[in-house]
Amino acid sequence: MHLRPPSREHADGYDDEAERCGWLGPAVTFGLAFMHIEPGWSVLDLGIGTGLGSAPFHRAGCRVTGMDISEEMLGACRTKGWAAQLVRHDLAVTPYPFQDASFDCVVSTGVFQFFRDLAPIFREVSRLLRDGGVFAFVTGDRARGKEQTVVVGPGFTGTGLSVTMYCHAIGEVAGWLETSGLRPVDTLEFTAWMDPERSLRFPVRAYLARKERSVRAGPPGVRPEGPPGAPGEREG
Ligand SMILES: C[S@@+](CC[C@H](N)C(=O)[O-])C[C@H]1O[C@@H](n2cnc3c(N)ncnc32)[C@H](O)[C@@H]1O
Repeated sequence: MHLRPPSREHADGYDDEAERCGWLGPAVTFGLAFMHIEPGWSVLDLGIGTGLGSAPFHRAGCRVTGMDISEEMLGACRTKGWAAQLVRHDLAVTPYPFQDASFDCVVSTGVFQFFRDLAPIFREVSRLLRDGGVFAFVTGDRARGKEQTVVVGPGFTGTGLSVTMYCHAIGEVAGWLETSGLRPVDTLEFTAWMDPERSLRFPVRAYLARKERSVRAGPPGVRPEGPPGAPGEREG
């Protein structure tokens, strides 16, 4: 199973295993995002692992910074040579070691299923994105009436240990986005297979969201600034 917490061996074999399992997270996430990004953008990949999720953004001309808890996974990513910066940090510990509004885009694939509550992560993403920046990510998907947790047994993790993964309902995700000032733009459900035989299906969903532009308060009667050419800006 490639969607599991890593070990050194796992880091070395991760890309092969992801390919054998048909891991579509990076392709689907980039597919939702690519009409909304520009070459030269700064991209932060949360849980970058070996770099699969942000590799398409790098190919599209973006500058990628990666954050991950695992030195082994960061090491495997480093050997690929294209990440501008790789930082070891736990997503559960806020604040993340980056300045406010320092990224045009935040990406995360195959990571959020390890977290029951995504609210603190989304708040941090909102802090790190500049106004108008985009957030492209994958979560475990919880259909109506389905369980929130999926326990993946030792037979599938390859570590002899069970792993608990979380599924998030679309409404729950929308709520966390909204309270963080992030507006949902697009979403697509797809399947992550837990094994190369593709016998165990884990439902996942990709999302694209945009950080709302903050509205600067002015004196009464003065309208907030819009982009050049915005409706109502021209005279006559
Ligand atoms: C299944 S891999 C996904 C890697 C990559 N994003 C991809 O799509 O192939 C999960 C990654 O999340 C990282 N991770 C898990 N828990 C984390 C945490 N609390 N903080 C930071 N990274 C974490 C793991 O080290 C691993 O690299």
